Amino acid sequence: MRRFLSLSSGLLAASLAKATSSSYENNLAYSSPSRRHPSLGVPLSHVVKRQAELFTPEEVEFTHGIASGDPYEDSVILWTRLAPTEDSVASEFVPEGVVPVYDGTEGAVPETKAACVEWRIATDEELNNVVDQGRGYTTSDVDYTVKVKKIEAIDVTSDADGVQFEAKGLQPFTTYYYQFNVCDSDKVSLVGRTRTLPARSQKVPRDVNFAVYSCSNYPEGYFNAYANTARKDTIDYVLHLGDYIYEYQDSSHLRTPQPDRETYTLYDYRRRLGTYRTDEDLLTLHSIYPFITVWDDHEVADNSWKNGSHNSEGDVFLKRKEAAVRAYFEWMPLRQVDMDDTLRIWRNFSIGNLADLMMLDTRHYARDLTVVGGIIGIGPGGNIGDVEDVVDDPSRTLMGFNQEAWFYDQLSQSSERGARWRLVGTQVVFSHIGLGIFNNRPFNRDQWDGYLANRDRIYQHLADHSINNTIILAGDSHASWVSDLAWINRRDYNKDTGAGSFGVEFAGTAVSSHSVLGRNFPNFLSKLLSKWLVSANPELQWQDLYYRGYFELSVGYEEVNARFFGIPDPYKRKNDDEILLAEFKVYSGENRLARSPTVGGGVAKAGALKNGKVVSP
Ligand SMILES: [Fe+2]
Repeated sequence: MRRFLSLSSGLLAASLAKATSSSYENNLAYSSPSRRHPSLGVPLSHVVKRQAELFTPEEVEFTHGIASGDPYEDSVILWTRLAPTEDSVASEFVPEGVVPVYDGTEGAVPETKAACVEWRIATDEELNNVVDQGRGYTTSDVDYTVKVKKIEAIDVTSDADGVQFEAKGLQPFTTYYYQFNVCDSDKVSLVGRTRTLPARSQKVPRDVNFAVYSCSNYPEGYFNAYANTARKDTIDYVLHLGDYIYEYQDSSHLRTPQPDRETYTLYDYRRRLGTYRTDEDLLTLHSIYPFITVWDDHEVADNSWKNGSHNSEGDVFLKRKEAAVRAYFEWMPLRQVDMDDTLRIWRNFSIGNLADLMMLDTRHYARDLTVVGGIIGIGPGGNIGDVEDVVDDPSRTLMGFNQEAWFYDQLSQSSERGARWRLVGTQVVFSHIGLGIFNNRPFNRDQWDGYLANRDRIYQHLADHSINNTIILAGDSHASWVSDLAWINRRDYNKDTGAGSFGVEFAGTAVSSHSVLGRNFPNFLSKLLSKWLVSANPELQWQDLYYRGYFELSVGYEEVNARFFGIPDPYKRKNDDEILLAEFKVYSGENRLARSPTVGGGVAKAGALKNGKVVSP
């Protein structure tokens, strides 16, 4: 493509516009989050017409590594960023009405050049057996991000014997390797590794393994939890349940994320995501596993709901949210599954006939008023009273009725098709968590405990349709909670045997975000509190406040295993220490946690364990 640079610029512009519009469309960043939404689309025809020339290979770099995500049985999203600078595009602009093409207004430097990128995906690490490849363009309009999926199957090629064959996309449950390069040059990215999902109807030949994360706070701690999974290299896919970034200013800890202020504008969110994607442990994990992500509040703002957050509301909040959403879709390797739905991130993944994974958005799509102000709405400036007034209102929803209807359909369809497990990724803790005082009042109305009717409708659906083997995965709370899914006061539940439970919830702690009762809080006091909570809540089987970390989930036909790992001290140093804190099993058809002593020998190394003992690590 560099040869075009010798042409006259007028002819060049016309040639490029004509020759490359389809290649621009190959870059999904232009249609994320929604090409057809008036305030979130980029008018691609304007972008194409404006481009006068291409960056030379010397002018651009792969500034933020590579990533893959949202695997299907025949395709996967590949991501990179090819840019003239590590910094994000300096736009103070916040989407309003039709998004204008980037034209250098408001202090930014106009940029008329495009970057041309090619990619290949192959079955071998040396990239000899290429099964798909393509070419695309990126510009300042999308912060030079590149997002592609299987676009152009190779029409016809030859094998070693000269036999012609046609490549038809990726094979299920198969490892692939991929690489980007600057068009017509040998400037290349790292080689990445990724994996497709098992085919929907396929009997999966072995357990499928996940690492599950939430709440990765760059200034507060090192991402040792990411590094350990990369080092062990024993899983298939990474799930991140939100708070992948934090929006607030923090220059008081280990490292200062850019920009050094709270994020409001499109530039702010792009730059913040870019800062996180300089962490080498996160980059390594992205380069070897496909991620499946959903956002929580801090991808936009603390304790956000559909129309506001802890510290912003009205138009300020809504513009901020649109900027955050747009940056998220540019920077994260995820699919937009519905081009007509502005904020839809909730989506389903079929994992053979072993499981369906439903990733929910309980935060930004349609969440009704949550607790803001004070501390989770309590204390001066808090709105806890307003929320308590409506907490059991039947019209109240955490998911939005559109998503609720979809979710109930997914649960039923998954059960009817005979998928063995239903895995549900949700941001906030689902189970009732009472304080043990004031009639066991819930301690955090920002979780499902603040949206009782929505939770009741889920239990009702599971009951009405006899849906078994449901496992909920949650994050958000910066602590670990393992519970039976007990519909307290609505269906009998035996805490000793688990009889009456609908399934199991595994809620994991943070990668590095502190828990008020963890960091700088003596472990023995954390344990006492855990003991109190476990005894106050019959369905809560294990709880720990002290450790940062993650959990691994192994899904097989006969059982699901969860292993919770604690990172001793991510606050001060990078290291590979981790402690296996507790292990749990769920046997198919039992809809409850297996009881001790089958569970990890009936021993945990932190927090408090019902029906078992806790020993020092
Ligand atoms: Fe968090």
